[in-house]
Amino acid sequence: MGEIRSVGVVGGGQMGSGIAQLAAVNGLQVWLHDSDSASLSKAMNNISSRIQTLITKGHLTKEKGSEALRNLRCTSSLEDFCCVDIVIEAIVESEEVKKKLFVQLDKIVKPSAIFASNTSSISITRLASATSRPSQVIGMHFMNPPPVMKLVEIIRGANTSEDTFNATKFLAERLGKKIICSKDFAGFIVNRILMPMINEAFHALYSGVATKEDIDDGMKLGTNHPMGPLELADHIGLDVCLSIIKVLHAGLGDTKYAPCPLLVHYVDAGRLGRKNGIGVYEYGGDKFKEIKPSPRL
Ligand SMILES: NC(=O)c1ccc[n+]([C@@H]2O[C@H](COP(=O)([O-])OP(=O)(O)OC[C@H]3O[C@@H](n4cnc5c(N)ncnc54)[C@H](O)[C@@H]3O)[C@@H](O)[C@H]2O)c1
Repeated sequence: MGEIRSVGVVGGGQMGSGIAQLAAVNGLQVWLHDSDSASLSKAMNNISSRIQTLITKGHLTKEKGSEALRNLRCTSSLEDFCCVDIVIEAIVESEEVKKKLFVQLDKIVKPSAIFASNTSSISITRLASATSRPSQVIGMHFMNPPPVMKLVEIIRGANTSEDTFNATKFLAERLGKKIICSKDFAGFIVNRILMPMINEAFHALYSGVATKEDIDDGMKLGTNHPMGPLELADHIGLDVCLSIIKVLHAGLGDTKYAPCPLLVHYVDAGRLGRKNGIGVYEYGGDKFKEIKPSPRL
């Protein structure tokens, strides 16, 4: 397997747009696709304004910034991914939807290309089983936001080859990341530990142990976390947190991973976190009504 020079990123949300930016700034040729045209234009606008900010702050030269933007192309057609060396998938956290995408890509993308999933929790082995190239499927789990966070968690599926692992590791390091390796169990390393904490913070709020501010301050000032667990859940997206917790619950089969009803309630009410202006906290606008934790408790 040769060096990776071109990347196709699927999903232009929080993660996909950040991964595309990171790859373009590091000199790779990038295609970015999203099935929703509004999300795709939003992603392109966000990337160019973030690159402009990096230039203004002196973190990137004007030339490097312009080069990064030239390296990046968006497309509404997956057919444009035919020649990429690696696809990085960052779409919704649903096994069914991700498998459907991999089946589609398998027919389009050249046979030597790697399929990497940015999934937070879903089995790489099962995603790989949807393709005709299971030895070339791997988990490449970036943290949020990808241009800033230093870590990439790499997950080998049951059939991932050594070549695929080495090429993915080399790419992550070229993007300036420190890698850690996890076996293919639900939630891998980071979310196996983080999500039960976030879920427990929701239980503490739900059962009236404390206010959201005190829960977050407790963990920030008492345990030196840079963000409290509820703030962090808003940052990740409450829908994404709920999907991950459900995968832990189903995959590890222990009731201790059952999602807190308050988290479910917030997601049902459309409170997704920072990305749509309201989650546990409000970030402006009055579209949504306050949902109080259950009065029975
Ligand atoms: N949010 C985080 O903090 C975080 C961190 C690490 C990993 N992840 C993982 O990254 C993935 C994406 O998360 P996100 O937070 O960026 O979500 P998001 O909701 O911000 O973005 C998802 C994007 O995918 C697009 N999409 C959905 N289905 C599609 C399809 N079939 N084809 C093309 N585009 C499609 C949507 O239009 C949307 O723009 C998930 O698997 C998530 O678990 C998220």
